[in-house]
Amino acid sequence: MFSENDFIPKKFSQSVETGKFEWSSPSNIALVKYWGKKEGVGQQIPANPSISFTLNNCKTITTLAFARKQSQDGFSFELLFEGKPKEDFKPKIQQFFERVLVYLPFLKEYHFVIDTQNTFPHSSGIASSASGMAALSMNLMSLEKALNPNMTEDYFYQKASFLARLGSGSACRSVKGEVVVWGNHDNVKGSTDLYGVEFSHRIHENFKNFQDTILLVDKGEKQVSSSVGHNLMHNHPFAERRFEQAHENLDKLSKVLQDGNLDEFIAIVESEALTLHAMMMTSLPYFILMKPNTLEIINKIWKFRNETKTPVCFTLDAGANVHILYPETAKEAVSQLIKTELVGYCQNGHYICDQIGIGSIENKNN
Ligand code: PMV
Repeated sequence: MFSENDFIPKKFSQSVETGKFEWSSPSNIALVKYWGKKEGVGQQIPANPSISFTLNNCKTITTLAFARKQSQDGFSFELLFEGKPKEDFKPKIQQFFERVLVYLPFLKEYHFVIDTQNTFPHSSGIASSASGMAALSMNLMSLEKALNPNMTEDYFYQKASFLARLGSGSACRSVKGEVVVWGNHDNVKGSTDLYGVEFSHRIHENFKNFQDTILLVDKGEKQVSSSVGHNLMHNHPFAERRFEQAHENLDKLSKVLQDGNLDEFIAIVESEALTLHAMMMTSLPYFILMKPNTLEIINKIWKFRNETKTPVCFTLDAGANVHILYPETAKEAVSQLIKTELVGYCQNGHYICDQIGIGSIENKNN
């Protein structure tokens, strides 16, 4: 098991002057939710373990061009969004560079041009921080690998996930694998608070090409950011029990992913989504991120499931949008439900069809 210090490189065997990499990283949707950080033990250390499906279509594609520079006094980078300079993204990258400098000591030796774009519409209410931080971290690891070609594949992916975590916690689950566990859990071998690991058991075929249709209920800026929400779990009246429950739910879900029991899957996943929002509603100060249409959609899904016995369920992230999860065999039925009953609750009728994916991919032809 790695500790933070193992990610501090010792010496590089190669020198590299200029180059360019390109990676695409997907978004992910948590089934057991990460909500709350441990206090005083480093950055982005989760208070409980989480598990997610990696998505396939909602991605950030980032190219990183670099050239060695003379002075090493500070960071030097340009940030482009869809090819155009984007000044307001820069402070986040600057802060990320400062945080990871000890693990990537070459950062001050290069001038970088970071060019990034998302496959999902801008301001769709889908957070791009997970896919964005993962894609940037993959590129930085490609540069480290060029400087140190002997690096193992395991180290490459573990450290990429470790860096992504420092950028935005859940980003560490967007690196590799269809199902990813992040956070120490007694019964998940290799699990750690430091980075995400691929779920190591065979996943039942019920989950093959599992579908996630994201209904865009509210595309606006959230009233309470995730980082504020995580912090409100400190001294939260129900926090300790919630963290234990996440461990229990991860155990249950691990079994379900292997035996394919969709009823159990639905029960765990929906309870996790509502518990996440219950934690928000019972924080001090309390807040609500769901909108009336979020509840309308949930009720319609329940009614449809009761009437048709279709194994479809919902989950929520830290916002009003609803992720509808269902097996590939239910695609036709759920697509009908969305078009006839649910699309009216989406802002401008917008929704995004996605499904389970494999993680970050390098584009070697750029
Ligand atoms: O990675 P963050 O800090 O944006 O937190 C993500 C929190 C949830 O999306 C609500 C849950 C999760 O595990 O992804």
